[in-house]
Amino acid sequence: MSGFPVIRPRRLRRTPALRTMVRETALTTDDLVLPLFVVPGEAVRRPVASMPGVDQTSVDGVVRDAEGAAALGIPAVLLFGVPAEKDETGSRSWAEDGVVQRAVRELKRELPELVVITDVCLCEYTSHGHCGVLAGAEVDNDATLELLARQAVSHARAGADIVAPSDMMDGRVGAIRCALDEAGFAATAILSYAAKFASAFYGPFRDAAESAPAFGDRRGYQMDPGNVEEALREVRLDIAEGADAVMVKPALPYLDVIHRVKRDTGYPVCAYHVSGEFAAIMAAAERGWLDEAAAMREALLSIKRAGADLIVSYWARQFARTV
Ligand code: PBG
Repeated sequence: MSGFPVIRPRRLRRTPALRTMVRETALTTDDLVLPLFVVPGEAVRRPVASMPGVDQTSVDGVVRDAEGAAALGIPAVLLFGVPAEKDETGSRSWAEDGVVQRAVRELKRELPELVVITDVCLCEYTSHGHCGVLAGAEVDNDATLELLARQAVSHARAGADIVAPSDMMDGRVGAIRCALDEAGFAATAILSYAAKFASAFYGPFRDAAESAPAFGDRRGYQMDPGNVEEALREVRLDIAEGADAVMVKPALPYLDVIHRVKRDTGYPVCAYHVSGEFAAIMAAAERGWLDEAAAMREALLSIKRAGADLIVSYWARQFARTV
């Protein structure tokens, strides 16, 4: 009596209603975060060639896009800044009149309910494109911490709800938490990119954020793709330093990492379905080799099933329109 023909799993797959009744994982628009790229100027909107549907926009365009996202029920945006000028230390990243700071102030004025998350990193702001300041050809970890903290405080002062450090310096969550608290921003949350891998899937983003390293690569600070135990150590360290939520990035090649982080910590886990993961499916869809909407739903649902509570996705609006 223990198998076929008594047991027939197909009985509950026969109709859409039956399948819906027994579906274990549901993805909703509430789970999504839309990334936006802010550039200087007025009325600027430049499509990113390698990311169909994604634009660089000036502050006015960010507000328009965020309004559209909010109207679709998307609860949060993640802002990246592309400054007019770059220098050795990335000093535009903590400028009061920087693109991200201005965008945050406008968003909080126009859409106070929208959760505004800011990416905290130096790579979009440094002339060499690395995520911290250099000492010779290496990124100087400890000298970078103060600059990241300054940037995070300036985002909090502009009104950011959550700051999200993506630089992978050791000790940055503690440094940022301490600086935020000292400046009177104890209520500003930290979403740490805790397990960020040195990935081949960031290519299109580096076009969008104009942040490709001028020499070398990021393997000296981002994680080796083979490591999951180390990812858990990184996550525990960031939680101990005060992270309120943790990120795994990229998403689909690291579903096991997402799963382990969720199971082992119980913390809110965010997964970033990154530019290259998105671009690969979009390119195949353009050639007619994949159905974009179906591939999108399956990819995002898999990330949720693995254990992510939140998903950063360039498809946030497309997904919201289909539900
Ligand atoms: C670094 C940062 C990167 C991404 C988000 N934050 C790129 C990198 O580490 O080179 C990648 C996001 C994506 O690929 O969509 N500030």
